[in-house]
Amino acid sequence: MNRIRLGVNIDHVATIRNARGSTYPDPLRAAEMAIAAGADGITAHLREDRRHISDADIEALAAITRKRGRPLNFEMAVTAEMETIALAHLPHAACLVPERREERTTEGGLDVAGGHNAIAPVVRRLADAGIRVSCFIDADPAQAEASKSAGAQVVELHTGAYCDAVREGSPEAGRMLEALRVTAAEAARLGLEVHAGHGIDYETVKPIAAIPQVAELNIGHFLIGEAIFTGLGPAIQRMRALMDEARAGRAA
Ligand code: PXP
Repeated sequence: MNRIRLGVNIDHVATIRNARGSTYPDPLRAAEMAIAAGADGITAHLREDRRHISDADIEALAAITRKRGRPLNFEMAVTAEMETIALAHLPHAACLVPERREERTTEGGLDVAGGHNAIAPVVRRLADAGIRVSCFIDADPAQAEASKSAGAQVVELHTGAYCDAVREGSPEAGRMLEALRVTAAEAARLGLEVHAGHGIDYETVKPIAAIPQVAELNIGHFLIGEAIFTGLGPAIQRMRALMDEARAGRAA
């Protein structure tokens, strides 16, 4: 079965750095280490409140990923400010996410169906600049359809609710996984590339990686947390191995 890509999100290295207002730990160093450990790409979210990644980080990450020949996936809210920054750095990909200041993380997917008129022109301008545009959506085939009609080339399925359900032992987990499967199949049928991310850990990665249409996973918080105990390289390598096992059809 085809290999699935792993994008490593290094936002929370910056969260730790910013907790002390210091210069370390450096997300650039984490990006270099992630690439050395086999990450297929680097993902970073420049939030409007700059709570973790800074403008200078994005500039440096754009340079480093270009130098290393790895794609940078720039997660961004659909705002004029973020669009200007994306167009200035021309990352390989931009993932459009909803953003609310009071949220702790990206809670829920982008409502592409409801926000079509605001989202489609941004998708077009980014795509015209050569950026692969992805919409971060909930497991809902209607949102995949709306992403296609807005001009996106990719959808990233929000796996957070499923991962939380597994960790909580909720009986809803199976239904949520099925919704991810159905949406992935529908998105692929529409000609969209399918990515997935949010909340993925060693326990939840295999059922998600086993969804045949999923071409890329973006994983951050868990890997950065594991890095405290095992180091970032080994954490990435273990995640990579689990993804490969899932693709090869080997059970957990
Ligand atoms: N994908 C998207 C679109 C995200 O917003 C995030 C969180 O920044 C992730 C993936 C990674 O999620 P996590 O840090 O929970 O692995």
